[in-house]
Amino acid sequence: MLIRPWCDGDQGLVVAAQRNLSAATIDRRFLVGSGGRLPVAYLRHIAAGARPEWDAQVAVDGGVLCGWAEYGRVPARDPAADVAVLVADPWQRTGLASALVRALVQRMIAAGIRAIHADVAGSNAAARGLVRALAGSDPGPTYADGLLHFAFDLAAVPQDPAPLAGQPVLTRVR
Ligand SMILES: CC(C)(COP(=O)(O)OP(=O)(O)OC[C@H]1O[C@@H](n2cnc3c(N)ncnc32)[C@H](O)[C@@H]1OP(=O)(O)O)[C@@H](O)C(=O)NCCC(=O)NCCS
Repeated sequence: MLIRPWCDGDQGLVVAAQRNLSAATIDRRFLVGSGGRLPVAYLRHIAAGARPEWDAQVAVDGGVLCGWAEYGRVPARDPAADVAVLVADPWQRTGLASALVRALVQRMIAAGIRAIHADVAGSNAAARGLVRALAGSDPGPTYADGLLHFAFDLAAVPQDPAPLAGQPVLTRVR
């Protein structure tokens, strides 16, 4: 499994990855009923590529996109960013989301980000497990508009000891 920064053209891999995404996985990521398709506005958003407001880390195996983690922030130099992760169904519970976020965190720090925010549905046990694993404990969400809102320090997230942040890394998942 290769974990690397987002490259121009990766939106094509995202579109192709839909064959491995259940409707439930897409719904949990976008917090809406998706009809089993990634939102068109989202595909347009990521097609604009990496920029100060948005960037991502992808996991690719044999040309197939297995998952990706992304951050977004407005304004571009905001020291807090929203983070979201999506792992395609065949690779869930293999440690891939954790590996993606650990790799992304190094690049977030380099981009001047200090805090992570994430909104998840209370019923999303997997996302809550991921937050617990990344933050080191349950960071105690606030509750608004029917969602759990997590905010925690980037420094809490375990990082890979990679001296060259942003370089592709070959990783083994469970
Ligand atoms: C949430 C999601 C990204 C987790 O991806 P993953 O690759 O399966 O997660 P990992 O294997 O890295 O596991 C991370 C931690 O979460 C826990 N976890 C994962 N799935 C879980 C589940 N279904 N129930 C409880 N805990 C779970 C793991 O045990 C692990 O904790 P540990 O390190 O203490 O063992 C994945 O389920 C997904 O893509 N879901 C749909 C989209 C979504 O909900 N995104 C999150 C909101 S933005």
